[in-house]
Amino acid sequence: MYRTHTCGELRLSDKGKKVCLAGWVQKSRKLGGMTFIDLRDRYGITQLVVRADAAPELASVAEKLGREFVIQARGEVLERESKNPKLPTGDIEIQLESINILNRSVTPPFTIEENSDGGEEIRARYRYLDLRRPPLQRALALRHRLAQEVRNYLDAQGFMEIETPYLIKSTPEGARDFVVPSRMNPGQFYALPQSPQTFKQLLMVAGYDRYFQIVRCFRDEDLRADRQPEFTQIDCEMSFVEQEDVLNTFEGMMRQMFHNALGVDIANPIPRMDWYTAMDRYGSDKPDIRFGMEIHDITSLVKGCGFSVFDSSEYIGAIAVEGCGEYTRKQLDELTDWVKRPQVGAKGLVYIKIAHDGSIKSSVDKFYTAEQLQELVKTCEAKAGDLVLVLCGAKRKTQTQLGVLRIEMGNRLGLRDPKVFAPLWIVDFPLLEWSEEDQRFYAMHHPFTAPKPEHEALFYSDRKEDLEKVCANAYDFVLNGTELGGGSIRIHDAAMQSRMFDVLGISKEDAEYKFGFIINAFKFGAPPHGGLAFGFDRVCALFGGQETIRDYIAFPKNNQGRDVMIDSPSLIDQVQMDELCLKSTAGDKK
Ligand code: AMO
Repeated sequence: MYRTHTCGELRLSDKGKKVCLAGWVQKSRKLGGMTFIDLRDRYGITQLVVRADAAPELASVAEKLGREFVIQARGEVLERESKNPKLPTGDIEIQLESINILNRSVTPPFTIEENSDGGEEIRARYRYLDLRRPPLQRALALRHRLAQEVRNYLDAQGFMEIETPYLIKSTPEGARDFVVPSRMNPGQFYALPQSPQTFKQLLMVAGYDRYFQIVRCFRDEDLRADRQPEFTQIDCEMSFVEQEDVLNTFEGMMRQMFHNALGVDIANPIPRMDWYTAMDRYGSDKPDIRFGMEIHDITSLVKGCGFSVFDSSEYIGAIAVEGCGEYTRKQLDELTDWVKRPQVGAKGLVYIKIAHDGSIKSSVDKFYTAEQLQELVKTCEAKAGDLVLVLCGAKRKTQTQLGVLRIEMGNRLGLRDPKVFAPLWIVDFPLLEWSEEDQRFYAMHHPFTAPKPEHEALFYSDRKEDLEKVCANAYDFVLNGTELGGGSIRIHDAAMQSRMFDVLGISKEDAEYKFGFIINAFKFGAPPHGGLAFGFDRVCALFGGQETIRDYIAFPKNNQGRDVMIDSPSLIDQVQMDELCLKSTAGDKK
């Protein structure tokens, strides 16, 4: 046995015990005739002490210990003279009797403590050292806890965990596929799954009526704080269910996870909002409802009054920002520049300032009477001391821009407290999205999503306007402005599935080539079914109070999709290329 206790375990009640600890030397310092060592493992830190006068040889060993040396230390638990209330072990220290150096370490490139002095790049390169730091250890411990909660809950509900393959054929989740060349089938490629969507549906056909899997998914898309090229889903599917059954089952799972992992009781029931309301009121299909600042449609109030920018706009919308009525010219100019950034894409910003005495000043004073502006302020539910911000343009685009501005103002005003959890179901999505550019419909969720039963007739209409009105039997789980999960009731009828491919402009041959297996399976008694998938990395990050998922993944990629620790992706040798019948044109591209 290398150790009797961990470095986070000993308390005053252990005083007098002879113990043996093993771990990493976080730091060693000499104070007068004493040497103190902070010994760390993943459970905590324990202080070791040795007196030069009592044990001169041991003291000289202790003094020479470098950072991150791995040692085994024996000694007696003593009560500390000066206690450290910040450490759970801060009431005790170990008076050393022996030190056994198990391994040495070169000097690490950054400090391995709660807060490190290392930049992101260097910490990524030495991820295994960064992972020794307590914040990352807490993040991975939370991840582990949540995975156990998921398994416990779903197991108790009769779900079976079943693995599905990674080397598959393309899945239509809307991103690019990562592909793997097949040596045994020259010139042919597997695709890595963007999700196990088709397999879980096939499991329903196979009669495994409650399936789940905590599973890796792969998507070649532009990366952001909440997106990784490989990420993990809690993927679920159920047979003989309607939307209500799915929502209730997974509301229960989320409630239990919050209660057991964080001691937080979330809203019961979780509120629901239809997609159209979410877009109109929050300019987002993943609204953060921790704060108000809702969007108001002021088109009818301000259009047609001689201000050409508004007069030529389909839609004019506004938000009232509490307590910002005293914004200076400089602040408003900065905000105008901010909304004009390509990431937001607005052409300009109109403001109305309401001073504390109620007087109104705006950037469009000369086009509107004081009464009109008063009316506008009232519509936006703004009060004295508030600032009304107005954007205009095409309806959905402008609402989306207002939604982005609303989140920004929420951040600036500190309205987005990571310790407050506001879950929400978004329902009644449009089934289809028209692309002007491609002149065709795309599935808003994926092509296996069923229309709402009451919209089935519309779904068979040939008119574009009718198809645009069809609502999907789909739902998203949203938490604090992040889409944590999404799913749908599926099409389980071969004819309806073919109709869907038709509407999406996928030819019979193409549908047969890509999805023949599932259309065929549906001919053998597919049960009604539906499900959803949660982004597990996002769940972990939000439970941990963060928006960035990277810290909740042991070995993540950077924003260029690279693992800088193992230096991947990288070139492969010519022999491998030849075996796979591959020829690189990367040189030509450059
Ligand atoms: P969807 O594509 O909505 O649905 O994905 C489900 C959830 O996965 C998370 N997610 C991601 N997390 C990190 N990095 C990414 N690149 C990434 N992409 C998605 C999100 C998202 O809500 N097969 C369907 C589910 C179903 O219909 O059952 C699917 O994959 O949190």
